[in-house]
This record gives sequence, structure tokens and C-alpha cells, in this order.
Amino acid sequence: MAETITITDDRTGKQITVPITDGVFPSSALRELDPNLRMYDPAYLSTASCKSAITYLDGEAGILRYRGYPIEQLAEKSSFLEVAYLLLNGELPTTAQLVQWQYDVTHHTMIHENMRKRFVDGFHYDAHPMGMFISAVAALGTFYDDAKDIFDRDAMDKQTLRLVAKVPTIAAMTYRFSMGLPFVLPNNALSYTQNFLNMMYRIGEDYEVNPVLARAMDILFILHADHEQNCGTTTLRVVASSNADPFSSTAAAAAALYGPLHGGANEAVVRMLTEIGTVDNVPAFIESVKRGDGRLMGFGHRVYKNFDPRATIIKKTAYDVFEVTGKNPLLDVALKLEEVALKDDYFVSRKLYPNVDFYSGLIYQALGFPVEMFTVLFAIPRTVGWLAHMGELLSDKDQKISRPRQWYTGADERHYVEISRRD
Ligand code: CMC
Repeated sequence: MAETITITDDRTGKQITVPITDGVFPSSALRELDPNLRMYDPAYLSTASCKSAITYLDGEAGILRYRGYPIEQLAEKSSFLEVAYLLLNGELPTTAQLVQWQYDVTHHTMIHENMRKRFVDGFHYDAHPMGMFISAVAALGTFYDDAKDIFDRDAMDKQTLRLVAKVPTIAAMTYRFSMGLPFVLPNNALSYTQNFLNMMYRIGEDYEVNPVLARAMDILFILHADHEQNCGTTTLRVVASSNADPFSSTAAAAAALYGPLHGGANEAVVRMLTEIGTVDNVPAFIESVKRGDGRLMGFGHRVYKNFDPRATIIKKTAYDVFEVTGKNPLLDVALKLEEVALKDDYFVSRKLYPNVDFYSGLIYQALGFPVEMFTVLFAIPRTVGWLAHMGELLSDKDQKISRPRQWYTGADERHYVEISRRD
């Protein structure tokens, strides 16, 4: 079978044959046929906007790999910072590299005092943590002279280190601010996730990080670290393609993540489960979804059409966490919803399965995070993925500033009418 595709323009009879490589053919074929020909592809359902060697996803088979390594192996054996190194550098670190990377991240976790005093303290008392997070990440870039030196490899490595190290501090800061609690400084003796939990919850001397809970956070961070060209990462690439600095680009990606169809879904799931309230109300809720009164949040995925491998790992992690914290009372509602939906033809025929957000919110809630923090918890590890994609974008000679074309459906030329003659 020829690995080519032939496109005929029936208006002119002109024909072009181009290779198909890994299931992809170049859109330059269309431009060669007719430079004014456009492919209408809303939401990029059939468009590969870049080449990427970071994350591999097979939606039909439920496969997710970072740099070739199956997510199941990384979640079981690795740590978040090791996975971060892998995503950013392409290879697993040696012992010396990992020790150095952990040291560097640990020693860049502090935020400039003026950032907190003048910026974070300026928010309204009930500001949403995700709105604060997005703004604070963008503002952080104004503290570094070299933030805009994106083609200087050393400067970019420095910004990457700063962002990866400081996003947990910013996240904890948004929480402490919204609770009216004093900020807790980073503790260099703790691991990445231990330090984050400590900055979140320490009151005086009264907090000891539970290792099972810190490990659960580590696993959740690993699972959320990257997911190829999703809405947030695509936003990162579009913004960074104009050579914007990594802080602005990361803030833009975080803004995309904020939406309830993307990273905001974990918050929406817990709100939905709370609203359903009891197992008895599940069938009626499912019927309301089928009637079109809202979606079953935490179900469905643009790419995964059989199962989301992250959801399988998260479900297991949830039970580990509940051993320590006690069962989240909403778990029974979630299990019932899953059971009913997976037997219902509406969901089966549309290939709708639990996604990463279906159970993660229950874990976050059991760990004491308010629902408003859930998307922030997604943004912390995803910052690594965004920066890995930014590095890849900047070294990709095929890339230019993102500038899609449109299918114009508006009015033809018409002449301006004076306002006095419009009534
Ligand atoms: N509940 C009920 N119906 C749904 C759902 C859902 N969660 N998701 C999709 N459908 C239906 C949809 O109504 C449509 O039906 P029909 O063909 O009759 O019009 C069909 O399934 C296809 O839906 P779609 O919107 O065309 O699918 P999509 O690939 O554009 O959307 C999605 C993917 C994730 C946005 C969507 O499944 C959804 O809204 N899920 C709920 C929100 C959610 O959990 N988001 C988190 C995604 S995973 C984390 C992340 O990557 O951010």
C-alpha cells in the first residue's frame, strides 16, 4: 500500500501526491494546489500544528508515554522532579543530575517579598486562587531582567528553573491569602510536594507532612505534568510563537487551563458530586445529562476513546489516600455514577469514560484543599509540560508565529451610513 495521498482539485483538474508519514501529510500540498485554498478545521480536530517528541498519546489504546516511558511505570517508580527533568531534557537524569536538579529547584522556591506585599496582597479578599495564580505568574516575569532573553539557552534554563521552583510557592500563597493566614516560607529540607503541603497547611509548629499523602501528591503531579497539544499547551505555543517571555506564555497557558472543559473540570466534578448528594439521586442525574441539561463532568476526552490511563492510576491513589484521611463521602456517589454511565448506551456509544479529573478532585478534597484550589493543583505540574513545549518550539526550525487563516462569512463591501440616517 502506497504511503501517499493524492488530492485532486476538481475545479482545475490539478492533482498533487504527497507522502503520509506517521499518519500525517503536509498541508503545504494544499498551498501548492492553490495558495488561496483553506482547510476548515475548527478546534483543530484533524490538524497537527507541530512536531513533538515529548509526549505520546494513543487515544484508542489508552496509552500515555512521556519521552517514551509509560505513565504507569513513571507513576509507580519515579518522583515528580525526576519526571520534570525527563520532560524538560529528554532523558532520565543520572543520580548526580537528579541530585543537582533537586538542589537547584529547592533553592529557587522563594518569591521576592515585593511580589507578595505589593502584588498578591492587592487582590480582593475573596479572589479566586486560579485568577491570582495566572496573574502572579505573569507578574513574576517582571522581576527578572533576563526574562525576555528567550534565545539565550542559559537564561531560558534559569527561567524554567525559577518557574518550576516557584509555582508551588505562588499556589500556596494564593491559598494562605484567601484564608487570611500568614505565608509559610519554603523549607529546603523537604521534597517538592512535602514543601508544598507544608506551605499550604503549617500553622506554627503544628504540621507534619504525612509521607503517604506527599507521595499521592507526587503521583498526581506526575500524571498532570504533560498531555501533548491540549488547549493549555496549544495556547502556550501560540503565545510563545510571538517570542513572548516564558512567564507571560505560562500565564496564558494557565488561563486556558482555568476553563471548566479543561483543567477546571476537577473543580466542576466535586461541585457536581456535591449537588447530586446521594447515590439514590444518581439515576435521575444521569437522565438529566442525557436530556442535555449539562454534562457529566470528569467524563469524556477529545483523544481517549476507551479509557484514560491517568484515571486508572488516580482511582488507585484515591484509595491509598482514603486509608489515611478516611473515605471521602462523595466517593460512593462517584462510583455509582461511573457504574451507571458505563452501562448506559448514551455514554458507551459516544465513548465517554472517566477522565483524569473524575477522581482527582476527591483526593484533593480529602487532602484538605478547597475546590477553588483544584485547578491550581493541575497548573503546578503542568508548568513543566508547558516549559518543555516552549523549549521544543524555540528550537523547531519549522515553526513561525502562529497565525491561522479564517473562512470569512461576513458582509461584502458596503458603504458607511451616517448615524443620522440609520434610524
Ligand atoms: N457528558 C455528557 N455528554 C458528553 C460529555 C459529557 N461529559 N462529553 C461529551 N459528550 C457528548 C456531547 O454532547 C456529544 O454528543 P452529541 O454527539 O450527541 O452531540 C458527544 O459526546 C461528543 O462530544 P464533544 O463535545 O464533541 O467532544 P469533544 O471531544 O469536543 O469534548 C470534552 C471533549 C473533554 C471537552 C468533553 O468530553 C467534556 O466536555 N467533558 C466534560 C468536561 C471534562 O471532564 N473535561 C476534562 C477533560 S480531561 C482533562 C483535560 O485534559 O483538561
